[in-house]
Amino acid sequence: MDRIRLVGGNELRGEISISGAKNAALPLMIASLLTDEPLVLHNVPRLADVKQLERILENHGVDIAVHGRRRGEEEGVGQRMTFHAADIVDTTAPYDLVSKMRASFWVIGPLLARCHEARVSLPGGCAIGTRPVDLFLFGLKQLGAEIDIDEGYVVASAPKGGLVGATVSFPKVSVGATHTILMAAALARGTTIIENAAQEPEITNVAECLVAMGAKISGIGTRTLTVEGVEKLHGATVEVIPDRIETGTFAMAAAMTGGDVLLKGARPEHLQAALDILAQTGTELSSEASGIRVRRNGNGIQPVDVDTDPFPGFPTDLQAQFMALMTMSSGVSEIRETIFENRYMHVAELARFGADIAVNGQVATITGRPQLKGAQVMATDLRASVSLVIAGLAAKGETVVNRIYHLDRGFERLEDKLSRCGAKIERLAG
Ligand code: EPZ
Repeated sequence: MDRIRLVGGNELRGEISISGAKNAALPLMIASLLTDEPLVLHNVPRLADVKQLERILENHGVDIAVHGRRRGEEEGVGQRMTFHAADIVDTTAPYDLVSKMRASFWVIGPLLARCHEARVSLPGGCAIGTRPVDLFLFGLKQLGAEIDIDEGYVVASAPKGGLVGATVSFPKVSVGATHTILMAAALARGTTIIENAAQEPEITNVAECLVAMGAKISGIGTRTLTVEGVEKLHGATVEVIPDRIETGTFAMAAAMTGGDVLLKGARPEHLQAALDILAQTGTELSSEASGIRVRRNGNGIQPVDVDTDPFPGFPTDLQAQFMALMTMSSGVSEIRETIFENRYMHVAELARFGADIAVNGQVATITGRPQLKGAQVMATDLRASVSLVIAGLAAKGETVVNRIYHLDRGFERLEDKLSRCGAKIERLAG
């Protein structure tokens, strides 16, 4: 299994191009199931999760093409891909494919809307929490679906003539359930109102893609989405938004190591809450035409308390990285994780660097230390893994991060991007 070796202590200086957002690319790819015409996506990141979803879509009959780089186009620019679901050949998403990645469960929405039936394996729990699917099933039932659980599969069928628009008032905000009901409602008969919808920029990217495909959606970017179902959707060409979690991750890395990094293509409005918190830590941030510049001026890292929240709040997907930063603050800070019940696996690994963190239920109390020391650590999930890389960049001496396949699920060319900014980082094969 590959590992990453780092020697900490170098400031980060230079430019990093932000890749397309994983969490937008995945549902955009799934939206291709809604039409028999091609959906062209620009700026798709090269990630293991994208590859995994390709396998799932191919199993349903989607033809996938990756187009070459255009002349003059920068190396490393996101992929241009076409997804063409001319015929859905199979409405089952099997266990061995779905169990590898939770987002693959979301195919249930478009399959049910277009084919009026779907049999999708339950995704199961995962490292960061139990992550049930009750909100998805609640929403689909509101649209008239009949749902059974059979041998670990959700077996869903639409009424004769297809799903029917309804009001879906979510008791809790869920990104995945919002994507799924939005896609299902696009082809339902009549009007659907989604209340307490997730407002993440990735939802907006998908909603705008659906509109480009002929869907009628209003309230995009708000907590209430109104969808007038249409009979058919058509092909479109859509750009994947820049990855706000990758942006926040590199911003926190630069805040921790010091230096001066331009995050090219980053959109500040997609992570304002995180940028505001970073500014309170003493990090200098400025918006430039080409992205966000992050600088640390050597005045030390101020401790700041943070609660994770749905967008526009501070993202849970940046919680581990922020904790890494706080381990070197000049005082005591508290983080409260409100989205997932078990998203503190990085705590024990950060302790291996000498970090002082106490967890009590949802709250982690971090007492900053002037210096971390490099260590052998183990990646546990995607965002936890990158928090260990950030800690390693700032720690004294050598760090080896084991089990880095998690990183490849969600960070494109991580070592390359960091080493171009002066980090001593390399991948060790095997
Ligand atoms: C999305 O997951 C992201 N994944 C996650 O990123 C992210 O952490 C999460 O949203 C929150 O922002 C993708 O976009 C592919 P949720 P999702 O449904 O949709 C509970 C990463 O590292 N819930 O908004 O699965 C759930 O257990 C990943 O890139 C129910 O109770 O998250 C959680 O506590 C990790 N019932 C809360 O809602 C349900 O039916 C929010 O989860 C569904 C969810």
